[in-house]
Amino acid sequence: MTEQKKSRFKGGLPDYLIRHTTFRQMQIFEAVVRLGNFTRAAEELFLTQPTVSTQLKKLTDVLEMPLLDQSGRQLKPTEAGEALYRAIRLIFDSLSDLDMSIAGLKGLRRGRLRLGVISTAQYFAPEILGDFCRKFPGSDISLKVTNRDRVIERIQDNEDDLYILGQPPEKMLNLKVYPFAPNPLVVMASRDHPLCQESNISIERLAEESFIAREVGSGIRDTVMKLFAERGLKLKTRMELGSNEAIKHAVIGGLGVTVLSLHTLCLEGADGPVDVLDVQGFPIERKWYLAHSKDKEISLMASAFLEFALASEPVITKRMETLYRKFSQRHELVRSKNKGKEKA
Ligand code: PGA
Repeated sequence: MTEQKKSRFKGGLPDYLIRHTTFRQMQIFEAVVRLGNFTRAAEELFLTQPTVSTQLKKLTDVLEMPLLDQSGRQLKPTEAGEALYRAIRLIFDSLSDLDMSIAGLKGLRRGRLRLGVISTAQYFAPEILGDFCRKFPGSDISLKVTNRDRVIERIQDNEDDLYILGQPPEKMLNLKVYPFAPNPLVVMASRDHPLCQESNISIERLAEESFIAREVGSGIRDTVMKLFAERGLKLKTRMELGSNEAIKHAVIGGLGVTVLSLHTLCLEGADGPVDVLDVQGFPIERKWYLAHSKDKEISLMASAFLEFALASEPVITKRMETLYRKFSQRHELVRSKNKGKEKA
């Protein structure tokens, strides 16, 4: 090590970083990289844009390397910027844990939790979060709801503490995965659709109907497309929509049938405007999975939430079973009515 470099270290620590950078600068840099934008970072941190630029310049001067690359429209971290971003995330995670430990010692239950969940988990995750926040009133929670492909990107970028997925990722990711409550996929149609009066509908018959599909990147879409492809069938996709709710409304509007998670019918129940069809091979039994990275130690708040969520599984399972039972009772009635007609 050169004399000059040596003087940058004291007691084995990078003295030049400790003396000349601040947590505030790191916070600004973290926000700029995460949001990909100076203006949004300034807004999030209640700062002016010139303050954001000045602080980033100071950070760049200390590290003596460019940290951001503004080629084209996109603002991206350079290789040095990425290394800094990773280090900042580790430092901030440790600070959050420190905050939670201190709060614990003071008898407070406090800490930060970042959750990344796939779209359909929006039908139960907020409810668990509500109960959790009542138990841990000092928790500061961010919930990012997006489709499967985006959640997988977030896992790769180590964006959140915990994830909820509709199926475990097929490859990679070094995740610890916990199977959770059921996530059955069912075929839905508007209540006045003629198929509601039919039983034991074949997949081939279903393929004749106009279909409303989730967007590319959705886990549900992948599952449905695979099922039809395995049978050598092609769906008659009438439209693609990026939200479960929009799809339900399109179904109610008579635009077609769809396949979604039964969870999407939790609020309206079995007597609402959407009916579940009696189709062979359905429901497709799937589960939810809670997951976190194996690479980094899970934060105290995340581990408290994991335990809390796993303990709430029986309530969600029961809700699904009760709801599905109501639809299958109706299927039974239609079956016996149709048998009666056949005999007559
Ligand atoms: P999606 O995932 O919201 O991306 O469709 C849901 C699932 O896989 O169950």
